[in-house]
Amino acid sequence: MLGPVLLAAARSDGIRRAVSAAPVTRPVVDRFVAGETLDDSLAAVRSLNARGLEVTLDHLGEDITDASEALRTRDAYLALAEALEAEDLGVRAEMSVKLSAFGQALPGGHDLALANVTSVVEAAAQAGTTVTLDMEDHTTVDSTLAILAELRERFPRTGAVVQSYLFRTEDDCHALAGEGSRVRLVKGAYKEPATVAFQDKHEVDKAYVRCLKILMAGKGYPMVGSHDPRMVAIAQDLAHRGGRKPDEYEFQMLFGIREAEQERLVSQGHRMRVYIPYGTDWYGYFMRRLAERPANLAFFLRSLATR
Ligand code: FDA
Repeated sequence: MLGPVLLAAARSDGIRRAVSAAPVTRPVVDRFVAGETLDDSLAAVRSLNARGLEVTLDHLGEDITDASEALRTRDAYLALAEALEAEDLGVRAEMSVKLSAFGQALPGGHDLALANVTSVVEAAAQAGTTVTLDMEDHTTVDSTLAILAELRERFPRTGAVVQSYLFRTEDDCHALAGEGSRVRLVKGAYKEPATVAFQDKHEVDKAYVRCLKILMAGKGYPMVGSHDPRMVAIAQDLAHRGGRKPDEYEFQMLFGIREAEQERLVSQGHRMRVYIPYGTDWYGYFMRRLAERPANLAFFLRSLATR
């Protein structure tokens, strides 16, 4: 019940100011965000890599309002790519980007986001790694997949995210299941209308399994983005039955969530990639984490009560 309220709050400037200023917020944010600086994120990369986990780094930010902010996002990712090149980790550390932070929603935003993200994808290739385009609300999907198609002409390893809660996603999975395609399947984290998305969690889960089957049967590289033990077990079973080797798919989970399970999967020989968000603009990301699980919200509320 609270989920939709929190997702609406994720887009409210007033609530953003109140939550960001509350002194108790910081320790709770730290559970889900690796830190504010590039150095903080690199420390998290080293710690996770040392435990056999791979990473994808997200410089926090979304929904910007002018083109200069888009350039700041681009520059933050260029600095990240340079740092990753110096660490020489290859695809053990890749990058995830939100195109809204590259200007996608501004006038002429499609071309602006494409131009800005292209520099980042070039820098990633130079660093021996790659980029995955996160998926945001449903109004952005066509533009994001069109940008993906353009990027893949020069950088075929560029990845995309699809969300099982959208009705369209099974078709998108068929279109993206070809040779060399890297696709992260998630359930979806935005507040979407009933005209475009399943509202019932059970329907979203069933759609996730249908999409998994398409991606696992295809020729691409499926990235299973879920903390759900049932989805993880089904993915393992499909990969096994389809004869996929451990380096022909991977699991992905968010920083700070189900860490014991992340390490358990690695110890079983699976490839596990942790999504590491860092930066100062953590509000939208943090509110989506609170919205998707009562226990996350309870953790936040307990920290308020124990002050
Ligand atoms: P869900 O929230 O349905 O929970 C199912 C079960 O998983 C729970 O009952 C519990 O057993 C277990 N579980 C979940 N959270 C747990 C926790 N904190 N502790 C213990 N157990 C827990 N979304 C999007 O719209 N666009 C995107 O680009 C991305 N990118 C992305 C990258 C990665 C790597 C991940 C893992 C997720 C995303 N997401 C995303 C978010 C995604 O859409 C979704 O909101 C969350 O992953 C939550 O859905 P789950 O499948 O994890 O399980």
